[in-house]
Amino acid sequence: MVELAPSILSADFARLGAQAQAAIAGGATVLHLDVMDGHFVPNITIGPPVVTSLRKAVNVPLDCHLMIERPDELIPAFAEAGADWISVHQEVCVHLDRTLRLIASHGCKPGVVINPATPVHFLDEVLPLVHHVLVMSVNPGFGGQTFIPSSLKKIETLSRLRESRRLDFRIEVDGGIHQDTVADVVRAGAEILVTGSAIFEHGNPRESARQLLRSALEATG
Ligand code: DX5
Ligand code: ZN
Repeated sequence: MVELAPSILSADFARLGAQAQAAIAGGATVLHLDVMDGHFVPNITIGPPVVTSLRKAVNVPLDCHLMIERPDELIPAFAEAGADWISVHQEVCVHLDRTLRLIASHGCKPGVVINPATPVHFLDEVLPLVHHVLVMSVNPGFGGQTFIPSSLKKIETLSRLRESRRLDFRIEVDGGIHQDTVADVVRAGAEILVTGSAIFEHGNPRESARQLLRSALEATG
């Protein structure tokens, strides 16, 4: 099943609750929260207090994408704030297996993220532990960047691996997804589509979400 996960990074932060609710009214079923620390990525965004507030404003799973160094130190706070899914970058986790188990031990669904330069096979050993694999289709840090086409092969590889190893993780993709790229990622096997600027930069998140989801579903049919 294809699901839309709007990234609030491109939303109007002064009207965050209303904008998230509008995207959900347009058919989004997951809310993607981009957490950046100014070290792992060259930008700073939100922390646990914003997760706490959004938890009260929406009913869909909160998907926290941690673009931070030393995620183990903050995982308990995000879980406490109401995160449902927490994903960490393979590139910063020296003890990735431990970090994924830590997320699960706090009652959240563990996910692992790979940057465009990171090969899928780096995840071989942890695939049985994760609820979702997030393939970055832009270099993390900012919304509104151009989709990197080599990520399509990585989505296909993950889809094949999942079948051959009889695993059940979900495949999520993040960055540069809009009307011109959505069909390709869905055909490659992506199921959770993270989209920021395509949802929030045209002034009508509800309608933008509806249209993007329609294009995604058409591509599967
Ligand atoms: C980038 C973030 C993305 C970003 C996507 O570091 O992880 O979630 O907000 O934005 P768009 O859809 O505009 O590429
Ligand atoms: Zn993200």
